[in-house]
Amino acid sequence: MIIAANWKMNPPLAEAGTLVAAYAASSHDGVTRILFPPAPYLVQMAMRLDGSGIHLGGQDCHQATAGAHTGDVAASMLAACGADRVLLGHSERRQAHGESDALVAEKAATALSGGLSVMICVGETLEQREAGDAESVVIAQLDGSVPDSIRGEQLMLAYEPVWAIGTGKVAGVEDIAAMHAAIRSWLSGRGLADVPVLYGGSVKPDNADAIFAVENVDGALVGGASLKAEDFDAICAAAGRLVATR
Ligand code: PGA
Repeated sequence: MIIAANWKMNPPLAEAGTLVAAYAASSHDGVTRILFPPAPYLVQMAMRLDGSGIHLGGQDCHQATAGAHTGDVAASMLAACGADRVLLGHSERRQAHGESDALVAEKAATALSGGLSVMICVGETLEQREAGDAESVVIAQLDGSVPDSIRGEQLMLAYEPVWAIGTGKVAGVEDIAAMHAAIRSWLSGRGLADVPVLYGGSVKPDNADAIFAVENVDGALVGGASLKAEDFDAICAAAGRLVATR
């Protein structure tokens, strides 16, 4: 099981230090933890996480390796700051920054060539779900965002229904099961059957056990609840309980 914390543009640096110290102070058998902090925090987080086994990733990178791109961050810079991976195609980037599938694929290819692995996010809007298009939207995102040449060990996916992110609304376990099965079948068709598929969208301590029990769910990408040490730890503990039953 893999539990990833997506801090987004939070918290203040002083709180980040306390939070990450709490992360590092616990461990859960069979649970791999990943932290995606804001890019300016990476170096400090890397020092604090040293020896903890917690992986570090950037929340985005540019598709170019270097150059005149004011305000952007190169994949190689993330790696130099201690990251071993990067989150790409989060719906907040797709929506607020107009990122297309093709751009996400380009960024992924650059990240891979810079030695990072990638976690690519996909997910439908409420409108698309209500129109009955959820699965076709997600499969099209996979087709467009995942580079053809990627190897299984370089990739993780996160299925995050856009309407469930930060809203307190969680997809029903049947919907999660159906989408994760569709994603697994897409992966199998690409020779990537073992790639982990995480669920994301309002994962909390009180719904984590039910979500983790769903077939083909290999963990969670956690936003809001990752900003509370106790909640993040409780979600990791739920993942650990699931591992213990397998
Ligand atoms: P949330 O965010 O847990 O706050 O819904 C998840 C995400 O956007 O990765």
